[in-house]
Amino acid sequence: MVRKAVIAGNWKMHMTCAETRAFAAAFRPLIAGMPADREVVIAPPFTSIPTLCRHLEGAGVAIAGQNVHWEDQGAYTGMISAPMLLEHGVTHAILGHSEPRKYYSETDEQINLRARTAQRHGLLPILCVGESLDQREASETERVIHRQIEQGLEDVDPTHLIVAYEPIWAIGTGKTCPAEEANRICGLIRGWVGNADVTVQYGGSVNPATIDDLMAQSEIDGVLVGGASLQAESFARIVNYQVPARV
Ligand code: PGA
Repeated sequence: MVRKAVIAGNWKMHMTCAETRAFAAAFRPLIAGMPADREVVIAPPFTSIPTLCRHLEGAGVAIAGQNVHWEDQGAYTGMISAPMLLEHGVTHAILGHSEPRKYYSETDEQINLRARTAQRHGLLPILCVGESLDQREASETERVIHRQIEQGLEDVDPTHLIVAYEPIWAIGTGKTCPAEEANRICGLIRGWVGNADVTVQYGGSVNPATIDDLMAQSEIDGVLVGGASLQAESFARIVNYQVPARV
């Protein structure tokens, strides 16, 4: 089986509805000729989801939530539930990103609950894992990621899932992980997930200059892009990545 490439943009806390409309108008023609071997996903802020869905309708772009709560409703101020996302046509959910792990103290147990709930509702989890610079320098990279996979995916169906390897030191820093090293870790992740067909993405300062090299790696099936997904031109260049034909 050929694994599908999935190019995902994570807008984080960027883009008003007006900015979203402008992005969609510029982006749509730039991806009109996109090859059929790849999928595009964008995770806008919750308030921009309806606008993005409307303005990219028929353009072949799936929409993701930037998180999802494990309960369907309740007294959880500031949170969003799977039924609320589904009502707007959302199909994917980013889970376990290092920012909620860091700023809101998300644990692997909570991330696991979110992943199970997402799958129960038919949302495809994009589980983010990755080590900090301190952990890498202490040679703990493999142990940290293995634990995140093991705890985050307990009782999660490994056939309905995307995993994103996002070394924290590469996020928003302009320091892309060398492609060969990202490839090595993505291969380890695929083994730990236990599904040879799982899509494993790389994320962390991906940009138009690094995308072709990353996508040429055998274990990297896509990317999760923050900063470079905010401009239509740069994200379209990433979506339209070019790799030498594999023989
Ligand atoms: P970046 O963010 O591309 O801006 O480094 C990636 C991410 O946080 O998913």
